[in-house]
Amino acid sequence: MDKYEQVIELAKRRGFLWNSFELYGGSRGFYDYGPLGSTLKRRIEQIWREFYVIQEGFMEIECPTIGIEDVFVASGHVGGFSDPLCECKKCGEAFRADHLVENVMDAAATLNAEQLTQVIREKGITCPECGGEFKDAYEFNLMFKTTIGPGTGRQGYLRPETAQGMFVDFQRLSRFYREKLPFGAVQLGKSFRNEIAPRQGVIRLREFTQAECEIFIDPRDKSHPKFERFADKELTLYSRQAQEEGEPVRMKLREAVDQGVIAHEFLGYNLALTNAFLTKIGIDPVRLRFRQHLKDEMAHYAIDCWDAEIETERFGWVEIVGIADRTDYDLKAHSKVSKTELAVYVEYPEPKLVTSFVVKPNMGKLGPIFKGKAKAVAEALKGLSEAELSKEEIHIAVAGEEITLSSDMVDFAEETVKVSGESLVPHVIEPSYGIDRIFYGTLEHAYDAEDVGAKAAESGLKGQEELDELESAAEEEVGETRLVMHFSSAVAPVQVAVLPLLTRKELTDPAKAILAKLMDKNLMTAYDDSGTIGRRYRRNDEIGTPYSITVDYTSLEDKTVTIRDRDSMRQVRAPIEGLEDVLYDLIYKGRSFESAGKPFNFQINSE
Ligand code: ATP
Ligand code: GLY
Repeated sequence: MDKYEQVIELAKRRGFLWNSFELYGGSRGFYDYGPLGSTLKRRIEQIWREFYVIQEGFMEIECPTIGIEDVFVASGHVGGFSDPLCECKKCGEAFRADHLVENVMDAAATLNAEQLTQVIREKGITCPECGGEFKDAYEFNLMFKTTIGPGTGRQGYLRPETAQGMFVDFQRLSRFYREKLPFGAVQLGKSFRNEIAPRQGVIRLREFTQAECEIFIDPRDKSHPKFERFADKELTLYSRQAQEEGEPVRMKLREAVDQGVIAHEFLGYNLALTNAFLTKIGIDPVRLRFRQHLKDEMAHYAIDCWDAEIETERFGWVEIVGIADRTDYDLKAHSKVSKTELAVYVEYPEPKLVTSFVVKPNMGKLGPIFKGKAKAVAEALKGLSEAELSKEEIHIAVAGEEITLSSDMVDFAEETVKVSGESLVPHVIEPSYGIDRIFYGTLEHAYDAEDVGAKAAESGLKGQEELDELESAAEEEVGETRLVMHFSSAVAPVQVAVLPLLTRKELTDPAKAILAKLMDKNLMTAYDDSGTIGRRYRRNDEIGTPYSITVDYTSLEDKTVTIRDRDSMRQVRAPIEGLEDVLYDLIYKGRSFESAGKPFNFQINSE
């Protein structure tokens, strides 16, 4: 089994991830989150909210997952949101044509369907499933179509990104934030893409969760008010140039912006924020990098884009977050289709005197002569220069018709007025997170298969005496491999396990009383009294429970329990009184395990 299979095996067995519709044979591209998976996912989402909603101040909105056609015509998805599809003539299996070609040439992603077909023919690429020949490749739109309302209804689409909701609601958001740039909004929710060949588990789903933030900024000033917070932070950057040279570089954010590696502070700040979020939830910083899109790889709306990528054993480097400068593309596109101005009014620090050439068609004269056409005539006049308007006879063209006017039909002059501000179409910075891919990354980066004896030695539990004691306390652990999820305490789905050493009332009663106090403290707990204590530790290691509390006979004498630390397998003995506060501090406040109680040398009575 490779790492992916090992992780997925554990994830299925322990209730993190299940194939959807398993009862009916399943369907590719869909996954269910089991009890522990849902909890872990919610915790990741909650921390994301802490970052973007609480710390950055971008409020959350919730829009429908079905969108009307106009929205996706404007966004460009109806016209161009497609991947090249190639079907086998023999078995009918579908493949991404660019993925087939990727193995024989670089930059396959930049070829169109026709070019891909040509390469497939020239290189004799055949179906990986049955060896059959391929039909011609064609562009396949990835949006799921639906009908809104009964009968022929109105064409609708399941949204392929949550972002559009924030653009469509721009005017409302702008008023909500009193037109003060920068402002932003986030949306967490499902997106849908009818992926051609989803063969990568939760990495490529047909229904997935995105957490997206659209930040509307002043296009004239892309500095970030909080840039200093991360200016000295070092990131692993795989810029366009670094990709040519073949190696990512470690760079401080300030240097990267100053040297133009990252286009501007606003984008840079958001790379660093993404880095902070991902490492907080347990992505291994060593297996995390930021890769800049190549010029021909960028989405139609972006002028610069960086992907946060994580290293996985089976799939190599995988994009989990895209951070783009989408410019004013979306607002202008929606403005055009909806025929509504989408802009903010920005006041100047001081009013400015602006001189402009003003043309004033004389409607009193134009009206009676041109009637219904008078407005079009007036508009045409406004487009003329001072020289053209100064002539005795003025010539214009309206709807193909040549019209001659006399000079008394229009006035013009240079006018100087005091202007206190201007309308601006903001630019948009967008961090777009794929929660399912992040979820998988968290699992793979947390997963470990450890030799228990070696681990005990490494944790300082050296010497035969301690190992013997360890063995008597948790016999399954020694000499075996333990599967452990090293989740950060902030995301672990179960935070504390409460384990009475034996299923005897004198031990289970105090254990349940401790459990109740931990629940009151809002900690996610599990109570487990079945099997040997070693087996229970093992179960909790597998689901990544950071701390286990064991109630034993000494507990009845001196009102203490043991707390076991998942990662080091060390134990301390701590008073029951105030235990919930100690656990809370260990989980949320970074309290050191050593300070939680007295080191304990495995004097648990074994079963
Ligand atoms: P890819 O090139 O891998 O298809 P993408 O460039 O199309 O990804 P984006 O359109 O930038 O992805 O989407 C933003 C984020 O949404 C991605 O970084 C990813 O985490 C997530 N995402 C996109 N498509 C899927 C999918 N089919 N399944 C799961 N997550 C996805
Ligand atoms: N909003 C970016 C994307 O999903 O493509």
